[in-house]
Amino acid sequence: MGIKEKIDQLRAELHRHNYNYYVLNVPEISDREFDDMMRELQNLEQEHPEYQDDSSPTMRVGSDLNKNFIQVPHKYPMLSLGNTYSEGEVADFYERVKKALNEEFEVCAELKYDGTSISLTYENGKLLRAVTRGDGEKGDDVTDNVKTIRTIPLVLSGDYPQLFEIRGEILMPWIVFEELNREKEAREEQLFANPRNAASGTLKLQNSAIVASRKLDAYLYYLLGEELPCEGHYENLQKATQWGFKIATKYMKKCQSLQDIFDYIHYWDTERKNLPVATDGIVLKVNSLKQQKNLGFTAKSPRWAIAYKFQAERALTRLNKVTYQVGRTGAVTPVANLDPVQLSGTIVKRASLHNADIIEGLDLHVGDMVYVEKGGEIIPKITGVDTNARGMMIGEKVKFITHCPECGSKLTRYEGEAAHYCPNETACPPQIKGKIEHFISRKAMNIDGLGPETVDMFYRLGLIKDTSGLYQLTTDDIKNLDRMGEKSAENIIKGIAQSKEVPFERVLFALGIRFVGETVAKKIAKSFTDIEELENADLERLINIDEIGEKIAQSIISYFSNPLNRELIERLKVAGLQLNRKEEDLSGYTDKLNGQSIVISGVFTHHSRDEYKDLIEKNGGKNVGSISAKTSFILAGENMGPAKLEKAQKLGVQIMNEDEFLALIM
Ligand code: IVH
Repeated sequence: MGIKEKIDQLRAELHRHNYNYYVLNVPEISDREFDDMMRELQNLEQEHPEYQDDSSPTMRVGSDLNKNFIQVPHKYPMLSLGNTYSEGEVADFYERVKKALNEEFEVCAELKYDGTSISLTYENGKLLRAVTRGDGEKGDDVTDNVKTIRTIPLVLSGDYPQLFEIRGEILMPWIVFEELNREKEAREEQLFANPRNAASGTLKLQNSAIVASRKLDAYLYYLLGEELPCEGHYENLQKATQWGFKIATKYMKKCQSLQDIFDYIHYWDTERKNLPVATDGIVLKVNSLKQQKNLGFTAKSPRWAIAYKFQAERALTRLNKVTYQVGRTGAVTPVANLDPVQLSGTIVKRASLHNADIIEGLDLHVGDMVYVEKGGEIIPKITGVDTNARGMMIGEKVKFITHCPECGSKLTRYEGEAAHYCPNETACPPQIKGKIEHFISRKAMNIDGLGPETVDMFYRLGLIKDTSGLYQLTTDDIKNLDRMGEKSAENIIKGIAQSKEVPFERVLFALGIRFVGETVAKKIAKSFTDIEELENADLERLINIDEIGEKIAQSIISYFSNPLNRELIERLKVAGLQLNRKEEDLSGYTDKLNGQSIVISGVFTHHSRDEYKDLIEKNGGKNVGSISAKTSFILAGENMGPAKLEKAQKLGVQIMNEDEFLALIM
């Protein structure tokens, strides 16, 4: 495989895993594998700047933004940490710091808590607000929910600074997590994969009474402000305990040497299993704030800190059989069914085998004794076979299935991809459900009151067979269903009716054509007056559109070459959806920003960030995530992140304010 293909493959894989993790909350791979893949991509991109792409997964940090919360900008951006799994790289970090500082320094070693991060602002001794990490620059205001956490003080005592932030991790303790999953199991609800997902899911609940019942806890590890009491990070946190914070300073240690650091790592690698909450590594921070300042930041993380992640735990157990799951995209995942075994505090019965190559690589046979690992406490996976345990009796070799277990279609494998897919997009049940879920989602048809569970129920009961079925539903059809009632039934029907006004570009996105995301859908809507024109477009016409390459074009052609898809569109048309462009959809489109790459940063007064993104695209520009030499200019609001500012200045990229920008596109 060529370098370019490898980069494309990694990008595609990472995009998918990112979505699984952040949007669906059902990761398929461990943090470790994700990190490794990301690092491989970063290295390749660094070596081959000619393949730079502003929408590469390396360009963004995950976002946990949620539409139901008010978004608040972070005064100081919430960055992530560089991380490593090797002691060698810890030593490299230590040497780098030593060389850069060229003076004595201390390193504060502490645990890396595996929860969801939070920033708490205190003003005049009162908790003013609690904001999630979000995209690092702005997060969701979850103050009401955070107030239910008993260990977070609402008012302080002692000589606290007038204004400061304290950051930390919100966690669900193991026992609470297990209890919650037991209750969920009894109610036949989907279980939380790990305490981290449980904590972040809980924090995003709209009902803070339920949050209160979930007994979350917080571990705080970072003080920020203009007037902190001490010069050392550790000392500041110790001081904060006097203001009423619960801070686990007893798990922290100031290290004077690399050996001290390794001792700390080795001690906690086993000792952490006795803690009430999940940890996935340790964090090392240069203790002196002055030295931290001197070391500074890279674009994504501080140079004065690093995270070391613990190796996952391993167990040996028997493989009884392999079953197969079909996902929303038709991807088929092999699952190992195991003799139950204890691993990192939970009992494991199933593990992911990822794809046919992995099975082949392991030379897996039924009845084999296999090693199971739980990276980042997510879905466990098989990492090896104990071939010595096979003896005389060796079971049947595991062969990847050839046909879909849900619908019986023959599976296919796309070039350059490891997964097998069920190609029966229009009639394979999990794929149909997935398509409907995408269709109703916020950025697509945005149908209020309708979520995945409800869609699932409608589908199971045969009330809908595809997206067009939604438009046939009546209040009477659904009001007597489980957990429904007249009022919510009416709301759903109203929401469905309202979606008929959703503009052409979003309907195009909602169709769920492979590779046609929001931006591509917008470009298409701009170039075609209606869906018929698109249906009849050939390859050449399609690839002439900005940002549409052969892969996307082929996918569009293949979508419309399926008569079932054409029939579906016909039904949607009859239902009254916007399948042609309105005159007003085109108003506001210009070429004023043609060919320009624009970064948006900070907080704005005239329009929201999303609106600015829209304005950029409507005027022919491209909104990109991070600053590079190719950036045309930065549209900057209040509180632009200091790292971005520094980078912009270094690269000599122009910074434009809101008014200047609006004048430019007038
Ligand atoms: S310090 C600028 N300390 O790990 C440094 N982070 O990848 C800010 N985390 O987003 C982070 N335990 O959610 C720090 N003792 C600790 C931590 C910790 C867990 C999380 C945090 C952060 C991520 C960094």
